[in-house]
Parts: sequence; C-alpha cells; structure tokens
Amino acid sequence: MERLPLFATATRGTEPMLATELDALGAKKIRQDRGGVRFMANLHEIVRIVMHSRVAMRVLYPLGEFEAPGKDGLYDAAKQVPWEEWLSPNTTFAVEATLKDSEHTHSGFVALRVKDALVDRLREKHGVRPNVDTKDPDVSVVAHLAKQHLSLSLDLSGEPLFKRGYRVKTTAAPMKETLAAAMLIDLGYTGDEAFVDPMCGSGTLAIEAGLIATRRAPGLRRQFAMSRWPEFRAMAQPLLDEARKEAQAMVRPAPAPLFARDYDEEALHAAKRNVTAAGLGAIVRLEEADALTAGPPDCTPGLLATNPPYGDRLAEGGQKGMKSFFFALGKTLGAWDGWRLGILNGNTAFESAFHQKPQRRVRLWNGPIECRLLVYGPRGARSADRV
Ligand SMILES: C[S@@+](CC[C@H](N)C(=O)[O-])C[C@H]1O[C@@H](n2cnc3c(N)ncnc32)[C@H](O)[C@@H]1O
Repeated sequence: MERLPLFATATRGTEPMLATELDALGAKKIRQDRGGVRFMANLHEIVRIVMHSRVAMRVLYPLGEFEAPGKDGLYDAAKQVPWEEWLSPNTTFAVEATLKDSEHTHSGFVALRVKDALVDRLREKHGVRPNVDTKDPDVSVVAHLAKQHLSLSLDLSGEPLFKRGYRVKTTAAPMKETLAAAMLIDLGYTGDEAFVDPMCGSGTLAIEAGLIATRRAPGLRRQFAMSRWPEFRAMAQPLLDEARKEAQAMVRPAPAPLFARDYDEEALHAAKRNVTAAGLGAIVRLEEADALTAGPPDCTPGLLATNPPYGDRLAEGGQKGMKSFFFALGKTLGAWDGWRLGILNGNTAFESAFHQKPQRRVRLWNGPIECRLLVYGPRGARSADRV
C-alpha cells in the first residue's frame, strides 16, 4: 500500500506527545512542526491513526502549497489543484480557512476564493458544480494562508478528533480532550494505576483517563470523513470497519479505580453527565470534596492529575488569594504519600506558591494561555524529587 505524506494538527505544546503516539501507531518519517506533526502513512495506518490517536486534532492530506499574492493569486493557486480526483459532481464540500500574518483580514474571504476556484474547475471538467454544505460536508477542504503562502489540504477525519461525542455539558474553562489526553500520555499514565482528579470541573481528565484505562479507542463510536470520499470510500470503509472491530476487542475493564472530585455541585453535575455519555458511569467515581482538606482515596497510590483554577477571574480574590490557595493546595497534596502528581497551571506564581520541587516542567498551551505541566515524583520519596 502506498504511503501518503500527511499532517496531523495538535494543540500547541503537544506535538512531542503526538509524535510518540503516531510512532506507536505505525506512522513513518515523523517530523514535528509547530502546531502539528508531519508523517507518512498508508491507508491501513491512517485508519488506525484516526481511530486511536488521542492527541491529534485533525489528520490532513496536503494537496499543494502555493505562493498566492492578492485575491487573484488565491484563486489561481486553488484552481491548479486537481479537485476532480477527490470530488464528483454529487459530492458536497466546505472550505475552512485560517490566516497567519496575511494581507487578507477575513478568513471567510480566503475560503470563498478557494471555493470559487474549486467550483469553476469542477464545472469546467464535469459541466456541473458540486454543492457546498457547511454543516455536514462529504469533503472538508482546509486552507491555511501564512503571509502569501497558501496550503490546501483535505481533512481525513471530518469533525475534529477532539470531538469524542461525550461532552454534553460544560463548566467554566473546560480543557480540550486532546490536551487532557496529551497530559496523561506525558505523565506515563497507562490506566494500570489508580487515578484522581481532585478538581475535575466537567471531568475531561478523568474521562480521558477512563478511556485509556479501559483501552477504548477515542474514535470507536464516531464516523470519519474519508469514508465519504468518492475515490477513497471503497478502500477506506472496509479498513475502518475492521479497525473498529479490532478496537472493540481491545476494550477491557479498568484495572484500578478512577476518581473525579470537585467541591462545586454544578461542576460535578456536568462531570456526571459527561462521564455517563462517555460510557464510563460505572468506572469513574464522582465525589464532592474540597481539595484543600480531602486526603487520598483508600486505595494503592497512583496518579493525581489536575488542572486547578488559574485565577484569571476577579471573583477568586486576585493574585494574593490565588497564592494562598496554591500554598494550601501544596500542603495538602504534598501529604498524599506515594502518589505522583501532574498539575497543569497557567498562573506564573503557581510553582513557587505550591512549594514542592517538580521533577520536570512541560510547556503546554490551554487555548491561548501558556501553561506549565508540573510533574512531581511519588510523594514521600523525597530523594527522587530532587533534580
Ligand atoms: C479550571 S477548572 C477544571 C476544568 C477541568 N479540567 C475541565 O476540563 O472541565 C477548575 C475546577 O476546580 C474546582 N475547584 C476549585 N477549588 C477547589 C477546591 N478547593 N476543591 C475542589 N475543587 C475545586 C472548580 O470548581 C473547577 O471546577
């Protein structure tokens, strides 16, 4: 099977975790780039990647890169792509554009120029034009314009891969599913040890941990755009069906307990709805508890991973109040003997206020906020903490 050059996009900072994951899924010639990872994969490997990747946001098949000055440059560049190889007159499509340092200020305008070129080319080839369907297109075209450099790609996955289908209720500041998964992968969580998020909000970390612990492929219950492409469908669909069967056979009971705690009733309510929608209702235990006073659950120590408030809301008593909160948290969590900690925070005062020595720090972005994932060795193992 021929290997295609592909690009998987990732939340900023998670490129190394994505590269590790792609390697494990059989991708070749893996090269990290800003905002994603380039790699080569055949259809068999592509299907495994979209089914199993927990970190990739989208998997793109690049169609071409062009210098595209002005509005005519955009049209002329997009018209060179052999769209007829990917779309028939009955195929619906949509174009999504992103811009970086471009002379154009509206991404919608760039998308429109690409759309016009695509429609004109197909009309010239087939005599009819394909229809746009922005809600549920068969083929999603992704255009990225950096200065005057236009990249055009097809999105193999369709709906972004972070849309796992379980987020039915949100709270303030939920994490992206892919960021939570990347954090757990970086922390070496395999699901074989106990897991606690003592400030779970809508439950993202606990749900991603539950999916890892039960070996549930994130794509198990969703569809992928490539199975609707005219030329690809016949080859991709049987492979996707087979990959789904294999993924289903991998599912196992969780070998260790998982806990999602929060002191806020509304957050716990949202977490409960999401945990249930993820099919983890019998696996993730939800508990109302204050992280400043509650001790570890009664089980063999494992991993505590959490994303405490950053204090960007005035209601939290300003930076002084946040520092006292982080200090009190450090005292409590520092006493969780035997537990490893992974804490993601975007407040620059967190590390010193928390007052524990991290083994390492990882730079990650939670949306636009630059954060640190601080990794602490097993509590009580003081010598291991010193680096
Ligand atoms: C940034 S949010 C977590 C978001 C979560 N990662 C998600 O994806 O939805 C922080 C959470 O910490 C909770 N929290 C703050 N202080 C707490 C405390 N002392 N004990 C327990 N939960 C707390 C808040 O109620 C909030 O749900």
